[in-house]
Amino acid sequence: MSVPVLTFFNNKGGVGKTSLVYHLSWMFSEIGFTVLAVDLDAQANLTAAYLDEDQLERLWNESSDSTTIYRAIEPLTQVGDLKEPHLVEVAPQLHIVPGDVALASFEDTLSEAWPASMADSNLYRPFRILSAFWQVAQKGAERVGADIILVDVGPNLGAINRSALIASDYVAIPLGADLFSLQGLKNLGPTLRSWRGSWKKRLDNWKPPDFELPRGKMSPIGYIVQQHSVRLSRPVKAYDKWINRMPGVYHDSVLQNSTNAAATPQEDSECLATLRHYRSLIPMGQEARKPIFHLTPADGAIGSHAQAVKESYDDLKRLAERLLEKIGITKSSLLTRFQSRQ
Ligand SMILES: Nc1ncnc2c1ncn2[C@@H]1O[C@H](COP(=O)(O)OP(=O)(O)O)[C@@H](O)[C@H]1O
Ligand SMILES: [Mg+2]
Repeated sequence: MSVPVLTFFNNKGGVGKTSLVYHLSWMFSEIGFTVLAVDLDAQANLTAAYLDEDQLERLWNESSDSTTIYRAIEPLTQVGDLKEPHLVEVAPQLHIVPGDVALASFEDTLSEAWPASMADSNLYRPFRILSAFWQVAQKGAERVGADIILVDVGPNLGAINRSALIASDYVAIPLGADLFSLQGLKNLGPTLRSWRGSWKKRLDNWKPPDFELPRGKMSPIGYIVQQHSVRLSRPVKAYDKWINRMPGVYHDSVLQNSTNAAATPQEDSECLATLRHYRSLIPMGQEARKPIFHLTPADGAIGSHAQAVKESYDDLKRLAERLLEKIGITKSSLLTRFQSRQ
């Protein structure tokens, strides 16, 4: 049985995808789950949040080992096969598959494999390539006994993200309160449906059961309103206008049924959370290389900042629990899976 994959996706940049994956990976491990975070953005911002420059340099320059996502899949660009991914342990229940700026060069290999996977024969390699992210993530998750895999992707609708989404069971969509975010959301629903449909056709074309393939479920499990991505100069009225359009656009574009859309995100069952602007906690966390909810007075979190640290803990814990509930992961479901592995 495969480990569930949750991806944070929006083809607009700056909406807080990377920050969410980083903080939620810590929060899931904090509340007792084992997490594998996979950085599938060639910008590797997620990896840089966990690791310092010296560690990054070592990973990227080590010659032989499969120290990054790209190193693990690189043999597929020649005649080789996937390598076992090297995982970095960030905390006892939190491991990562590091990102790599070189990942961008995999885009062409993926694009070529896409039509080839609909051919009549020689399907092994194209399917190996198209499912490479999923294979690497599952291998890594199995090795550390992960309960959940979190994936961060870059802001585009290219072949890398298509493969990342094919590898995803669940998709959560962070949204900023502006025209660009809403416009992006209008494209997201049709894009997910098209990728899901085209992958299904490919699964139907896959006969020899040489290896397992991801199901390409990519079920949308809701959106997250990101208050930080509002330009400060904007009047409050404009903010409310965009916020209150989110339920309608989400239900219409992503769920294709707007009858249940509420008037505001606060009343909408698909809204997973409204995350506040954490302001100076963010640079403080980056500096200390910690999630903001672990900041201490020694990191500068004193006075009102200490209160904000506590609030961020509560906000992110609530969001983590909401996500688990949507995915259907409970402590008892984990126990069942654990026993079936024995
Ligand atoms: N809740 C938040 N409060 C304040 N700043 C945030 C918050 N979430 C993200 N940011 C900041 O916004 C910027 C964009 O976030 P990031 O996670 O990199 O977005 P994306 O991955 O979608 O491009 C970063 O500088 C990040 O530190
Ligand atoms: Mg990012």
